[in-house]
Amino acid sequence: MSENNEDFVMAFQDSCDKPTLLLIHGFPLSSQMWMPQLEDLEPFVRVIAPDLRGFGHSDSASGAYSVTLLADDCADLLGHLNVATPFIVCGLSMGGYIALEFYRRYPEHVAGLILAATRAGADSDAGKLNRDKAAQLAKDEGATAVSDGMLPKLFAPKNYESDQELVDYVKGVMGTASLNGVVGSLMAMKDRPDSTAMLADIEVPVLIIHGAEDQLIPVAEAEGMAKAIPNAELVVVQGAGHLPNLEEPDQFNDAIIDFLEQVFEAADEN
Ligand code: MLT
Repeated sequence: MSENNEDFVMAFQDSCDKPTLLLIHGFPLSSQMWMPQLEDLEPFVRVIAPDLRGFGHSDSASGAYSVTLLADDCADLLGHLNVATPFIVCGLSMGGYIALEFYRRYPEHVAGLILAATRAGADSDAGKLNRDKAAQLAKDEGATAVSDGMLPKLFAPKNYESDQELVDYVKGVMGTASLNGVVGSLMAMKDRPDSTAMLADIEVPVLIIHGAEDQLIPVAEAEGMAKAIPNAELVVVQGAGHLPNLEEPDQFNDAIIDFLEQVFEAADEN
């Protein structure tokens, strides 16, 4: 600060002067999966959508990843950007595992959580074995061998059959994943903690969004979380599979806008 400015308080307007929504992407995607949210939610919130390590334009860091490391990467980014807290944290699928870890580590920074197409439980033994097989497949045949196998299961069957543009878009986003990102994230998901016991202690409002036709994580997982979290609302998106934000963006965004209004109106009243 220059010495002439000691008593001077400057007011200013900043288009970023809105509550913040952190969007954490799923596996093996990138921030590009949030395109309809980056476009439509911008009038309501400051949207920050990082590429997790190994994905999109972020560094393809080697070594062991964990949900703790990935949550801390997000916390460091928001700290670096000087984002006012608390903010809303939204994660889809793997992003949901990271969002729960973020809450576990930094509850004071979280005004509300949005858990999309995700679950609270850890991997079963069979699930852990599949993570190892997928990591080996990626090492042997390349990262796209894993994403190509996942592609049909990401959508409601009708969308996979009829929306070629959307399927190509998601395939393109997954095609940018690095081998380090795919292997590292598989190990982070494999070793993630079971968050089920934490659900009853979540003190902020939670919106749970799940595609009615999710083939990777059954809707019963979302129903279970909604029952266990004290202040939770469940929105089941009809006509969507594992990517409700892309398959039915209007339903997804409307649910988020309603939730943001509730959270920030309640904060204004307090
Ligand atoms: C994701 O969509 O992020 C992953 O499919 C989640 C998982 O494999 O558990």
